Amino acid sequence: MACIYSEQSGHYNFAAGPAMLPTDVLAQIREEIQDWRGSGLSILEQPFTSSAFKQLMAETDADLRALLEIPSNYRVLFMQGGASAQFGLLPLNLLRPGQGADYLESGHWARKAIAEGRRHAPVNVIASGADQDFTALPSPAHWRLDPLAGYCHITSNETANGLQLQEFPALPVPLVVDMTSDFLTRPVPVERFGVIYASTQKNLGAAGLCVVIVRDDLLQAPPAGLPAAFSYAVQAEQQSRFNTPPTFTLYVAALMLRWIKQRGGAETMATAARQRSALLYRYIDGSDLYHCPQKIQDRSSINVCFQLADAGLTEIFLDQAELCDLTHLRGHAAFGGVRASLYNAMPVSGVQQLVDFMADFEQRHG
Ligand SMILES: Cc1ncc(COP(=O)(O)O)c(C=O)c1O
Repeated sequence: MACIYSEQSGHYNFAAGPAMLPTDVLAQIREEIQDWRGSGLSILEQPFTSSAFKQLMAETDADLRALLEIPSNYRVLFMQGGASAQFGLLPLNLLRPGQGADYLESGHWARKAIAEGRRHAPVNVIASGADQDFTALPSPAHWRLDPLAGYCHITSNETANGLQLQEFPALPVPLVVDMTSDFLTRPVPVERFGVIYASTQKNLGAAGLCVVIVRDDLLQAPPAGLPAAFSYAVQAEQQSRFNTPPTFTLYVAALMLRWIKQRGGAETMATAARQRSALLYRYIDGSDLYHCPQKIQDRSSINVCFQLADAGLTEIFLDQAELCDLTHLRGHAAFGGVRASLYNAMPVSGVQQLVDFMADFEQRHG
């Protein structure tokens, strides 16, 4: 069967991650896979100890610092194991023996962080959105903070259930944030955080790298049992070269940072994110077939989650969308429905094509 909807023109990947990359970044990768910076070697063949690769790491650090206005008392670490490894590494790196941590239970990914955190330390859930099926964020006014906690962990954007924190409170304990799905999609007040961490496969390129931005005073000697490669202090001291960093993914992240910089930086990314998501939410809110259960003020500008009034139509919708090159729109297994992930590389034309498809589908099935 072919695409029934005739207006379709491009192929857009709405996957939650790894996500689509800009076509010009892909073209540059294609070129440099053969010969990187005139070295006669592929980027895949570069030793991480070469001066050219050290230069690339220094440029990546500098670009991140410029784009996020990272103060000089923060280290930028390039680590492996994804954000999921950080769920366990945070308590191991930041807490003293017996010390606990606060966690905001805002959705699927916060729950993962909590479950893993609990394996290493006492966890205090300061507030939960579970009683509202994670369709709204608990207001900071209701967070039950422990003044003795080693840190307070939040998830800035819940990728699976489409919620995004709009503001970050100043807290008496270090604020630690999983920014995996909205990293570099908007400016953030870095000085409010003790640690910011984000896997790169959504807004910053390929899978295999986790950027960890950590305040100097939180670096402590690795406790017994923590492998040195996963110690923030060790990697900070060795400029993320204690062992081989994920060189190719770092290179793609460097290209993405340049791409973001050329377009005007985090503020421009935020404007684009608002524009893309507003287009989609506006259509959903005006429709009888689709609805978005998330509370309006807490809706994510990155992962737009919605349901069809007749749940039986969801599979047909997803199948037809795939045929029309609008791919990977299936909602997260825990929440069902449809999810459109609109990361930095998604052009507004992709969202427009999705909205046109949805309108056509509604006419045929509404
Ligand atoms: C908010 C958030 N945190 C953590 C993760 C896990 O990242 P990784 O698979 O790189 O460990 C994801 C993945 O989708 C995510 O969206």
